[in-house]
Amino acid sequence: MPGTAIIGLQWGDEAKGKIVDLLTEQHEIVVRYQGGANAGHTVVTNGKEFKLSLIPSGIFRPHVQCVIAGGVVLDPASIIKEIDSLLKQNIKIGNNLLISNRAHVIFPWHNLADRIFNNIGGGEPIGTTLRGIGPCYEDKVGRALAIRVADLYQPDFKEKIENIVGVKNQLFLGLTNNCDNTMRIPGLDVELDAESIYKEYCGYAEQLRPYVADTTNYLLDAVDADKRILFEGAQGSLLDIDHGTFPYVTSSNSSGTGIFNGSGVPPHFLKKIIGVVKAYTTRVGGGPCPTEQSNDLGTQIRERGREYGTVTKRPRRCGWFDAVAVRYSARLSGVDAISVMLLDVLSGFDSLQICTAYEIDGQRIEYFPSLINDLRKAVPIYETLPGWKEEITAVTKYDDLPVNAKYYIKRISELVGKPVEIVSVGPDRLQTMFL
Ligand code: GDP
Ligand code: IMO
Ligand code: MG
Repeated sequence: MPGTAIIGLQWGDEAKGKIVDLLTEQHEIVVRYQGGANAGHTVVTNGKEFKLSLIPSGIFRPHVQCVIAGGVVLDPASIIKEIDSLLKQNIKIGNNLLISNRAHVIFPWHNLADRIFNNIGGGEPIGTTLRGIGPCYEDKVGRALAIRVADLYQPDFKEKIENIVGVKNQLFLGLTNNCDNTMRIPGLDVELDAESIYKEYCGYAEQLRPYVADTTNYLLDAVDADKRILFEGAQGSLLDIDHGTFPYVTSSNSSGTGIFNGSGVPPHFLKKIIGVVKAYTTRVGGGPCPTEQSNDLGTQIRERGREYGTVTKRPRRCGWFDAVAVRYSARLSGVDAISVMLLDVLSGFDSLQICTAYEIDGQRIEYFPSLINDLRKAVPIYETLPGWKEEITAVTKYDDLPVNAKYYIKRISELVGKPVEIVSVGPDRLQTMFL
């Protein structure tokens, strides 16, 4: 099985990091191909918890080559901090990490723009992670103001910075002059200084130099050599820029559609796509989430599941499993199988609910709406399932799960229309069952 992908099927934080770490054992290369330091992937090994943002979750197996491909937006300060922190914890990082020379680079103006535009369109804010992700992808698509990793090493890098800073300062100045006080962002009045940014980024460029490579060619060679490659999706399919809950999405193709443009690997190489879901729903940031429980139930799930953002520490919005949304994202991402995570969090409930359809304007709808205003109106239609009281974190065999837990998994599989192949009952590698 040369190519396998791990894709989140909800709004992110489905515990993709745990599954990538586990499956890395059977692979030679692990690739992050979209998103940036907005991702927070957790891996627990030998009782120790690691949080990763840009570095692939395969990094804990030293024989595996980790690749950050061209579709990622790279915050140099963030990745250098991450590398240093992992090195301090005795994790090997050297020639086992490659960073694409095509990846676009996040600069201070992207973080500033993220703070401004997160809130400027009126209505509910997108609630981004403020990591400069959207503005960096905007510049990538716009081309004229973009800087890629390879550009950091070119003789005209200084000139590029000067020109771009000139343009950005004018844009920010225009915004400051034209917006009323409610839109004023602390720090926005400070002019960007080309010289200091240039020096800062030259420093980063030197530190990152050993890792920078043409990862597209590297991966194409690996494809020709039939190497086993694992693709690590970031965010979740419902946050996909084209197919998610626009505009409450991230700025990359975070569904399965992003694997190929982000990595450069051709579609036919991929032999298996595993969709990762929580046994319930969480969402962090703005936008509708039909099954959200803004009540004691939601709080109970949040506390049992320790549902606080890995990157921003924000409390995650929690609710029941939404089979309408996941059926859509499983089809969109083309998944072959599902991995159901955090099943242990649902122990102790008398009964559980799964959303099987929506009611919108009095009509029963079984597909996921394309427009945000329809999704806002969606009232979930639930199927009620019996709960189970036992804690299941120590269960190691699927057959040993409570009958009602097995029934819950069976219904998820039936309603989503895909087989469940993995069930997770705790953060540790050992708390995983392969069906
Ligand atoms: P990712 O962004 O998809 O990699 O997910 P996050 O790391 O942001 O969030 C998943 C959280 O759930 C992490 O804190 C994991 O350690 C934890 N986790 C993973 N699997 C399980 C599980 O089966 N049960 C419980 N209780 N926690 C889990
Ligand atoms: P992982 O990989 C959950 C959400 C943000 C916001 C929206 C846009 O850990 O699953 P952005 O900063 O990307 O412009 O924010 O997307 N978001 C995530 N939510 N998990 C993530 O990553 C996320 N990355 C971005 O909260 O709603
Ligand atoms: Mg996360």
